[in-house]
Amino acid sequence: MAFTQNEASPVDCSEPDNVVFEDHQPAHTANRAELLAGLQLEQKQVDPKYFYDARGSELFEQITRTQEYYPTRTEKAILSDYAAEIAAHCGTGCVVIEPGSGNSEKVRLLLNAMRPAAYVPVDISAEFLYEAAVKLGLEFPWLKIQAVCADFGSQWQARTELPAGRRVVFYPGSTIGNMEPRDARDFLSGLRQWVGGDGGILIGVDLHKSEQLLNAAYNDASGVTASFNLNILNALNSLLNGDFREQAFSHRAFYNTEMKRIEMHLVSRESQVVALNGSSIRFHKGETLHTENSYKYTLEGFSELSESAGLALEKSWLDENRLFSIHYLTVA
Ligand code: SAH
Ligand code: AVI
Repeated sequence: MAFTQNEASPVDCSEPDNVVFEDHQPAHTANRAELLAGLQLEQKQVDPKYFYDARGSELFEQITRTQEYYPTRTEKAILSDYAAEIAAHCGTGCVVIEPGSGNSEKVRLLLNAMRPAAYVPVDISAEFLYEAAVKLGLEFPWLKIQAVCADFGSQWQARTELPAGRRVVFYPGSTIGNMEPRDARDFLSGLRQWVGGDGGILIGVDLHKSEQLLNAAYNDASGVTASFNLNILNALNSLLNGDFREQAFSHRAFYNTEMKRIEMHLVSRESQVVALNGSSIRFHKGETLHTENSYKYTLEGFSELSESAGLALEKSWLDENRLFSIHYLTVA
């Protein structure tokens, strides 16, 4: 594997030569400023991208295997059932780019049908991305993989040279749901310009459904989602030299019906002062740190969102219980 970085460039030749890894992580100083600004708001908040350190990525993978978390298995079943039809819409021989690729499990289900010219997984979680890319590269030796470690919300495209070819963005997992709807619109609109007139976007979107199912999915009985939520405190500690204690907070997740979103918070169990970077931050007992929103869409709502981003919804695929949806979007 050729391993290129911003500064140092270690090269590990024992890895498959169909895989290249690029590191475009933002400087820690940028992260610190962003984190501190969120912690100083009246409703304290942190961007959910900070969930995904090495342990956070592992915990997310465990969440996807819980009985309660229906999105992953449902989306995978749709991808398997409709792989040929999806490939017919996306086309073969294109460059598939996956923002927030995680373990790259889902793209596997499309590779044989789509036979892309190249696959570009993009993720903020460096080690996890590296391992996923190597594993995929060994399993699919014919596939050219350019793994990019970057914040997909940054201008990472400007810092890399992608393989030539028609572009299809694969954005599964309903990761779009973790953005505010206006940010989702801007993100989609950016992708539209980027894939151009001949490209497309294949996107997975979780659907509005019974509160009971939704609440259970984010409050699994084994407590994995709670551990995932609490683990964000470790990212805060390492980036801000803080002394957040997991045992001083508890996990809360609930469906906000009016906003059509799951909200995840960490509730302070006590009145406390947390040290950060030489200063401090106070929590009242019961005060929360808002860690994530996960918006759920109706089919009409997602269609309107796509339209407002200048995209045309060419085709949608759903499971028989209408829990989850996958859409192929093209430039309107
Ligand atoms: N696509 C996979 C993983 C979804 S989990 C699936 O559908 O199963 C969300 C993934 O997005 C995680 O791997 C996380 O590390 C990544 N991620 C979250 N925010 C990100 C950001 N701003 N930039 C890059 N990757 C991000
Ligand atoms: C990655 N993302 C779409 C997941 C979600 O469902 O919003 C993250 C997650 N948070 C708690 N459980 C899973």
